[in-house]
Amino acid sequence: MRSLCWELSRTDLAEPVPPVPLRNGLPRVEIEEHQMKPTNAIDADTRHLIDGAQFKMAMRHLAGAVSVITVGSWEERSGFTATSVSSLSADVPSVIVCVNRTSSSWPILERRQRFCVNVLAQDQQHIAQSFAGQNGRQGVARYADADWHELSTGTPALKDALTVLDCVLERAVHHHSHAILIGHVCAMTVRSGARPLLYWQGGYQHLKSTEA
Ligand SMILES: Cc1cc2nc3c(=O)[nH]c(=O)nc-3n(C[C@H](O)[C@H](O)[C@H](O)COP(=O)(O)O)c2cc1C
Repeated sequence: MRSLCWELSRTDLAEPVPPVPLRNGLPRVEIEEHQMKPTNAIDADTRHLIDGAQFKMAMRHLAGAVSVITVGSWEERSGFTATSVSSLSADVPSVIVCVNRTSSSWPILERRQRFCVNVLAQDQQHIAQSFAGQNGRQGVARYADADWHELSTGTPALKDALTVLDCVLERAVHHHSHAILIGHVCAMTVRSGARPLLYWQGGYQHLKSTEA
C-alpha cells in the first residue's frame, strides 16, 4: 500500500494543474488506463476469495451522501445517481467520482469532459430515483420535476441542491468496469439550512436530530 501511494503521488498528483477553464477553449485530457505496478497486482488466487455479491453485502454498511452527477448540455444531457463522491483536495478544489462505464452518461462525459456534482437534500429523493433509472426515465427525461440552471461549464446544475460542484474533468482513470473521475471544481452553490439525503442498507435515509 505504501508503494502504491508513493506511485500515485509521483505519477498522478505531482503535475501542475492547468488554469480553470470556462465555457470555451477547454483543454482535453487523455482518458488513461491505470497500469498497476507488479508489486500491487492481485494474484489470481486472492482475486476470487470475495465474490461480487459478498462485496455488495459488505458495502451496504457504508452510509453515503446521495448526489446526482449531471453531464452534457441542454440539447444532449444525461446523468446518474452516485454515492461515490469524495473530496480530494482543497488548495486546488478537486473531487473524485466513480462511474460505471456501461452507464448512458459515460459517452457524453468522455466527449464533453465536464460534469456537475449535485448533492441532494432530503426532500429530493424523487430526483435520486429518477437519475438512478428507477422510474424508467432516460437522458433528458430524468431532468423533469426539478429546476436547473448553468454555472461555469454549461452543465445543468440543480437549482436547490444542498451544494453544487461544477467541474472540469482533469483526469479519468479506468479501473475494470469503472472510471475514477478527478474533477477540478470551478464554480459552486450552497443551500443553507437543508439536511442531506443519505443511502444506507439499500435504502434512502434521513439524519435524525439528537437534540431533545
Ligand atoms: C444510491 C445509489 C448510488 C449509486 N452510486 C453510483 C455511483 O457512485 N457510480 C455509478 O456509476 N453508479 C451509481 N449508481 C447507479 C446509477 O445511478 C445507475 O446505474 C444509473 O443511473 C443507470 O444507468 P443508465 O444511465 O445507463 O440507465 C447508484 C445508484 C443508487 C440508487
